[in-house]
Amino acid sequence: MNAIEAAMPPFETLRWYLDAGVDECVGEIAANRFAAPPPVSAQPQTPAPPSLAPSLAAARQSANKSEDRPAHPKPAATAQHPAAPSIAAGAKTLDELKAALLALEGCALKSTATQLVFADGNPEAKVMFIGEAPGADEDRIGRPFVGQAGRLLDKMLGSVGLDRDKSYITNLLVWRPPGNRTPTAQEVAMLLPFLERHIELVDPELVVLLGGTAAQAVLAKSEGITKLRGKWFDYATPGLVRPVHALATFHPAYLLRQPAQKREAWRDLLMLRRKLDDLGV
Ligand code: URA
Repeated sequence: MNAIEAAMPPFETLRWYLDAGVDECVGEIAANRFAAPPPVSAQPQTPAPPSLAPSLAAARQSANKSEDRPAHPKPAATAQHPAAPSIAAGAKTLDELKAALLALEGCALKSTATQLVFADGNPEAKVMFIGEAPGADEDRIGRPFVGQAGRLLDKMLGSVGLDRDKSYITNLLVWRPPGNRTPTAQEVAMLLPFLERHIELVDPELVVLLGGTAAQAVLAKSEGITKLRGKWFDYATPGLVRPVHALATFHPAYLLRQPAQKREAWRDLLMLRRKLDDLGV
């Protein structure tokens, strides 16, 4: 326990941990990772036990996440998993796509995540929402957007007459990155072909990209979300019969941290509602 934590009552300490992004307990006994390391022995090195320090670093990184993160360097899509595009393209139904992901080899996220978080909502819906990656709650329950950010997303949907029966929801990454860290360029490169196929199979009229990571990956853009949000893009792939209208907006988790930005998100939602009205959806 450090000096800040020692000065706080237990509940406040817990709240402080949660605010810092800590969402997992890795041991029963607190260990001071800042203390000097034990002297190196001549014994062969055994792998270190999982420590809280990397989780805290990841949690801090996650807590400080800005919506306007620089884009991933354009991932070399074939470098990480040469077969991913053809495996994804081979899926002819959503069930086959899910099965292909379950069978996918070479994705390290699978070994740290509890389970695949594939999708929620109505696959017949005209509007598809795409987030970044499952968090701790989604990883535990197996459905996207079921935690605090999900509750805000549900309110956002409700504000424009939508709900989970009238929309379809998935993420760029279908496994939780450990400690909710930002997805790496390699993870995005490996899983983007599956998301692209996912969009083709659902074939929605509209796609809403929640947050900078999903927006940059799907739209193949390098600008941050404040530049990308609030305008319509045409999203096209060879497997789509016609381009899909795509709109980017702030991620609900970001809106929870920056409520002043809800005003801009509301503008985006109104754009979405108008487009739904135009399309008679
Ligand atoms: N954030 C996301 O991007 N997706 C989820 O499913 C939950 C939180």
